This record gives sequence, C-alpha cells and structure tokens, in this order.
Amino acid sequence: MHYQLTEEQLGVKEAAVDFADKELRPGVVERDRLMQYPTKEVSKMGEMGFLGMMTATEYGGGGMDTVSYVLAMEEISKVDPVAGVIMSVNNSLVCWGLEQFGTIEQKEKYLIPLARGHHVGAFCLSEPGAGSDATRQRTTAIEQGDYYLLNGTKNWITNGATSRVHLVMAQSYPNKQHHGINTLIVDPSWPGVEIGPKEDKLGIRASDTTSITYTDVKVPKENRLGDDGFGFTFAMKTLSGGRIGIAAQALGIAEGAYRLALDYAQQREAFGKAIYQHQAISFKLATMATEIEAARLLVHRAAILKDQQQDYDMASSMAKLFAADMAMRQTIEAVQIHGGYGYVREYQVERMMRDAKITQIYEGTSEIQRLVIARHILKGFLYA
Ligand code: CAA
Repeated sequence: MHYQLTEEQLGVKEAAVDFADKELRPGVVERDRLMQYPTKEVSKMGEMGFLGMMTATEYGGGGMDTVSYVLAMEEISKVDPVAGVIMSVNNSLVCWGLEQFGTIEQKEKYLIPLARGHHVGAFCLSEPGAGSDATRQRTTAIEQGDYYLLNGTKNWITNGATSRVHLVMAQSYPNKQHHGINTLIVDPSWPGVEIGPKEDKLGIRASDTTSITYTDVKVPKENRLGDDGFGFTFAMKTLSGGRIGIAAQALGIAEGAYRLALDYAQQREAFGKAIYQHQAISFKLATMATEIEAARLLVHRAAILKDQQQDYDMASSMAKLFAADMAMRQTIEAVQIHGGYGYVREYQVERMMRDAKITQIYEGTSEIQRLVIARHILKGFLYA
C-alpha cells in the first residue's frame, strides 16, 4: 500500500507528540500508581481538540480524517494509554455515533460540548452477563407514553464516573431479540442513575472504569438514537470505527515499549558490550520493529478505507486483532530485554505490559475479532 501523509496529518502528529511529552509524560507513572484519573490532562486534551477530532466543525469538532485521528491516538498512547482510551471512546464511540445517527437537536444538545471537549461521554453496551455475546442485553427500555423506562446494569464502562453523556443500549422488545434493542442518550444526573466504584484494574489503572445501574430512569423519547430497534446495529457500526482507535492505542503502547527497550539495549552492557550487540537481544528488537510496522500498515489501511467510505468492518477487526496481540507480545519482550529493571515501576515497561492486555479484551476480544474476520471470509471478503 502506497500512501504519504499530508502536511496537515503530519502537523496533527507533531502536535500530539508535543502534547504527550509536555502534558502526559510528567505524571504518568504516579497516576498509574495512585489510580488517579487525569482530570487536568483530559481538560487540556479537550482544549487542544483531541476529543472531537473527526466531528464536523459545525458540531464543534476538528473536521479531521481518521488517519489524523489514528496518528494522534498512536502518539498519545505511546506515552499514556489512559489518555488514549479516554480519547478513543469519546471520539469514535460517542461523538461519531451521535454525529452519524443523531437528530439535529441531539447533535446540538449533546454532541457539540462533547466534541469541543467540555466533557466526555460513555458507551454503555457491556453487561454483567453480556460481554462478547452483546445481543443478549438484559437492560430494558420500555416505552411508557412519551418516555422510556430504563432498568438494568452496565459493566466495564470506560469514563463511567466522569462522563456527562451515556449512550445506553437496552432491550425494548424482548421478543424481537437484537432487533428490539434501542440506544438511548442518558444524562447521568437524572434520578435513578447510580455509578459504581472505580474498578481496581491490572492496567490502564488511572482510567475510570465502573459499572452503572439504571433504576426506573425516565428517558424522554426524543433521546432515542436512530429508528426504533436500531440500537444493536448502531452498536456494531460504531464499534467498527472504535476498533480502529483501539488498534492505534495498541500500536502506540507497543511503540512506546519498543523505544524504551531499544534505548536500554544500547546503554546496558553485559559480557563486555552493549546488550544490543548480542544477537539474542538485537533479534528481539528486529522482530519488534517489524511487527510494529506491520500493525501500523493494518491500522492505517483501516483508517484509509473508512475515510474513503469503503467497507472497513473486516479491516478494523484485522487491525485491532493484530495490533493488540502484537502489543502484548512486544511489551513482554520489552520487559525481558530490561531484565530485573523491567520488573519495577520506574522503568515503565511493566506498566506498558499491563496496559497492553486490555487491548485484547475491550471493544471486542481478540476472539471476537477472529469471529468477525472469519464471517467476512465466508461472505467472500478475501484478501489475496
Ligand atoms: N454493522 C452493522 N450490522 C452488523 C455488524 C456491523 N459491523 N455486525 C453485525 N451486525 C448485525 C448483523 O448483520 C445481524 O443483523 P441481522 O440479524 O439483521 O442480520 C446482527 O448484527 C447480529 O449479528 P450476528 O448474527 O453476527 O450476531 P452474533 O451474536 O452471532 O455476533 C457479535 C455478534 C459480532 C459477536 C457482536 O455481539 C460483537 O461484536 N460482540 C462484541 C461486543 C463488543 O465489542 N463489546 C465491546 C464493549 S464496548 C467497549 O469496550 C467500550 C469501552 O468502554 C472501551
């Protein structure tokens, strides 16, 4: 695939490198240790335009393409994957979904502040009993005159405690299975919304992942996103784009760990020479560099297809599958190259290894990506 980044795309990349270095790097180790949400940093990301990059300018966004977005995601995640996931959820699940399927009134009321980065949103699909098997929504949204009565619990919600807008998938017509699901725009300040405690996680510890319980929440009917029963298709279409963002996050994590491992390998000496001079180490770095480059091509391919308005479902699953599994492999190698130092917080690669793991799980596990790819192959989407 031949492509060249435009001046504008290179400018976005440079701005993200600068932002990550100046604003995110200084506190990243401490935020992970304390599970401290990056409040000030997220607000700065909003001011810089990183929270609504792809949203049209008329709705408060940057009007940029997906390639620019993945470039920024990669650079930000290289330094702080927590900032990466907050940015990814807001841009590609919440803002994109509202822009594509919202009414003008919904966009004016909810999208504009989100795209301007005044606050962030959450995408509430997973439930205690419905993760990969997302069609089995237990949360209900039953029509009662001019509102829906929302009841149920959502799990593993990124931005759970901080978001000011929830996009909630819920079953309105249980006899219609997934064709009965609706997506509702919910304001968490409404009566009946209860946010659970922040999860104590292996990685991306500073992000606020919570459960959310809705008890008899009255959601006005004008807050339904899309046609009646469109909620599951909405979730699937939105996740296809979301997966490109998470693939870019995984790519950034792998690259961040690779850079640290490369520096370390050139400085650390063993048996009379820099460890890079030992084939055991330089071959690891050669594999890391190659796999990172391969992931970048897949991520950019998916972004380009989306920008060209071609079918990108399979490409986004391939990008996420490869980039996430690659990030896990390469962060483990980065720890190994650092030896004992890799096992302590100060050297950062252990955090990157912990952070990489979630990219194989959220927005569809690696197994779900294989399922999506396998189904596309049967439909005739063969890459030759
Ligand atoms: N676009 C539009 N429609 C789609 C679609 C897509 N990309 N993918 C599937 N669909 C449609 C199908 O066409 C089908 O519609 P019809 O019945 O009308 O034909 C319907 O959705 C159901 O699809 P399947 O028959 O394939 O259903 P399935 O149960 O066999 O498989 C699944 C569905 C692919 C496994 C899906 O449930 C899935 O993607 N699961 C993973 C869920 C997920 O990614 N969760 C992430 C949580 S969000 C998150 O992590 C955010 C965060 O905070 C970081």
